[in-house]
Amino acid sequence: MKIRKAVFPVAGLGTRVLPATKAMPKEMLTIVDKPLIQYVYDEAKEAGIEHFVFVTGRNKGVIEDHFDRMFELDATLAARGKKAEMEVLAQNQPEAGAVSFTRQQAPHGLGHAVWCARDIVGDEPFAVVLPDELVLNTPGCLAQMIAAAEQLPEKSNLIAVEAVPEHLTHQYGICGVGQRHSCGNMFEVAGMVEKPPKGTAPSNFSITGRYILQPEIFKILENQERGAGGEIQLTDAMIALARTQKFYGVEFEGERHDCGSKAGFLRANIAFGMKRAELRDGLIAEMKRYLES
Ligand code: G1P
Repeated sequence: MKIRKAVFPVAGLGTRVLPATKAMPKEMLTIVDKPLIQYVYDEAKEAGIEHFVFVTGRNKGVIEDHFDRMFELDATLAARGKKAEMEVLAQNQPEAGAVSFTRQQAPHGLGHAVWCARDIVGDEPFAVVLPDELVLNTPGCLAQMIAAAEQLPEKSNLIAVEAVPEHLTHQYGICGVGQRHSCGNMFEVAGMVEKPPKGTAPSNFSITGRYILQPEIFKILENQERGAGGEIQLTDAMIALARTQKFYGVEFEGERHDCGSKAGFLRANIAFGMKRAELRDGLIAEMKRYLES
């Protein structure tokens, strides 16, 4: 069944990057010249997603503005003949009716945020994309996952996974590795755990910010108790769903950047800047200058 909808949980407070996120949503932080949220929207669009569901919160209104038309700006650019800039804005513009916004009214966790999208998603499989995480690759991570889903039976769930150093496993959801799928980059998930205490992780495969889930997850989330960090965890609901449906870990191709941390954010700016033909040489020259000084 085609994956038509993607849910973007964007209600988080962004405390890891204060004070930048005091008055501005962390999803609007800029990598080169685009906000994080635009990168993940573009990734979902490239993957064939038709409806984009943002689970927002207070102080996140600017995300909605970002995906709206700005008539004054359009008119001014047109009057000045700025065709290239108009083209950039037109490319970023979702089709009317293709975006929905709903609010998570209190910070109860990722699982609760996804549950807030239940009525908009309805009874069909859907993607979840966490905007903190960018993956640099073409095709993008979500397109790779949708291609992987096409190899699997109906009612399969998929999680993008990446091996992380063992001393970092306590920072992530971790999944155990079961039988390998014949197509190589996939395995059956054998158990999951959210942020396992140091030394207890079942593997070093971390759950990254891309999921394809079956709608049965919503019923579980409705009654899901609080887990790690006192929050309603998506991973805990997935553990419950794994009793009746299969989960697959997809080892995607591409460079993962955790933009919710300061170091990751800086690294992403350099990595994405280096991919831009018009910026690359200048960036290398500047970095050389700094390294030599
Ligand atoms: C969330 C998930 C976790 C996952 C991580 C990836 O955690 O709960 O399983 O590994 O995203 O970024 P958070 O970063 O919101 O604490």
